[in-house]
Amino acid sequence: MAAVSDELHYNPYAFATHDDPYATYRRMRDEAPAYWNPELKFWALSRFDDVLEAFRDFDTFSSAGGVALENRRPVNRQMDEFSQMIELDPPDHTLFRKLVSRVFTGRKVNDMESSIRAIVNGYIDTVIEAGEGDLVADITGPFPMDVISEILGIPVGDRTELRTSADKILIRNDGSMEIPHEAAEGMFELLAYFTNDLLTRSPGDGRGLISDLLELEVDGRALTESELLGFCVLFVIAGHETTTKMVANTIELLSHHTDQRDRLVADLSLAPHAIEEVLRFHNSTQYMHRTLTRDIEMHGQQMHEGDSVLLHIGAANHDEREFGPTAEQFDIDRRPDRHLGFGYGAHFCLGAALARMEGKVAIEEIHRRMPDYTVDHQAKQRFHSGNVTGWTSLPIAFTPGPKEATS
Ligand code: HEM
Repeated sequence: MAAVSDELHYNPYAFATHDDPYATYRRMRDEAPAYWNPELKFWALSRFDDVLEAFRDFDTFSSAGGVALENRRPVNRQMDEFSQMIELDPPDHTLFRKLVSRVFTGRKVNDMESSIRAIVNGYIDTVIEAGEGDLVADITGPFPMDVISEILGIPVGDRTELRTSADKILIRNDGSMEIPHEAAEGMFELLAYFTNDLLTRSPGDGRGLISDLLELEVDGRALTESELLGFCVLFVIAGHETTTKMVANTIELLSHHTDQRDRLVADLSLAPHAIEEVLRFHNSTQYMHRTLTRDIEMHGQQMHEGDSVLLHIGAANHDEREFGPTAEQFDIDRRPDRHLGFGYGAHFCLGAALARMEGKVAIEEIHRRMPDYTVDHQAKQRFHSGNVTGWTSLPIAFTPGPKEATS
């Protein structure tokens, strides 16, 4: 007799799933490649080819109904407070993306390398003499907010407060799709901050990307307040949360694979490869939400206009059909032709070059300055969200070293 627990069930908010989602993802790929969750009412696509094709086909898989499952709404209804390009489909999306894409090119990002390195080393300095610290609280948590703040023009004194608000926004309760009070409060604080911040800026004041946006036009008109707020919120959440989590995920994974960690210490040029493998193997963004704009059939399932579909990056990136028999192994020597860590198509992560640079620099500096770190796996604390995976606390110990800051 089949045990009830053998039934395939995937709830992205269940804390137990967060501890080890990959066995469930494998079952979804093999047994239910178009998986339907009847309680939370969503489909999940988990095979690499399906997810890639759905990212590409924005006419059928629309972003306009929200890109987070818990924020879903009918496709033609905008959020009240702010509108973000990540929730627009082409051709509207293309107009907004063009406004900001020049800021995040590979060349622009290369120019930022030394300042990113100085920021990371400043945080390593705060713990290096003690030989212990909390990787997340002391290093990987704060530095991406500093980097994105430099680009946006957010004053140094405001960054900690902003990060505290941003960190609350993605928090979810065990098994529940409801947005907790804490998360709503975080979003409210972020919007209040930027509503005030916009009042202090003027076009051409040279205070960074937010002020630059005041000078730009879309369709022959200036951006509305709701659109400006949308950019601010998107950049802070996308630019900070996922990158922070990616770097701590890398350290946590390498602490289980010390042979690979030791090779990285001996050859820091492996850092970008380690980051690329983490983006594939355990991406901080696990899936994106889309809304069907028409009825379709996939894998024998009838899917209807208006239905929610998760494009499951985390599952697709472990698909043996794409990555071969070693797909479920962590291997920094893997050189995949492609993965879906940054999505695909029109909304391909605007900050991919920046995230890769931040990851490379942080992994190089951490392994150069604290190469023998150990992670306290008993004390570490997982971050629980719907689609973002990471750590809120990762206590580490290492041989103390000297500070390096010149200031
Ligand atoms: C490890 C770090 C990161 C990961 C895993 C990640 C992942 C993603 C993914 C999967 C998407 C596609 C969303 C969709 O198709 O609906 C996306 C879009 C986006 N990301 Fe990232 N991201 C990261 C870092 C960053 C950074 C540092 C920035 C800084 C600006 C950024 C800004 C954006 C923006 C603005 C979009 C929306 C693009 C659009 O709508 O055209 N991301 N990201």
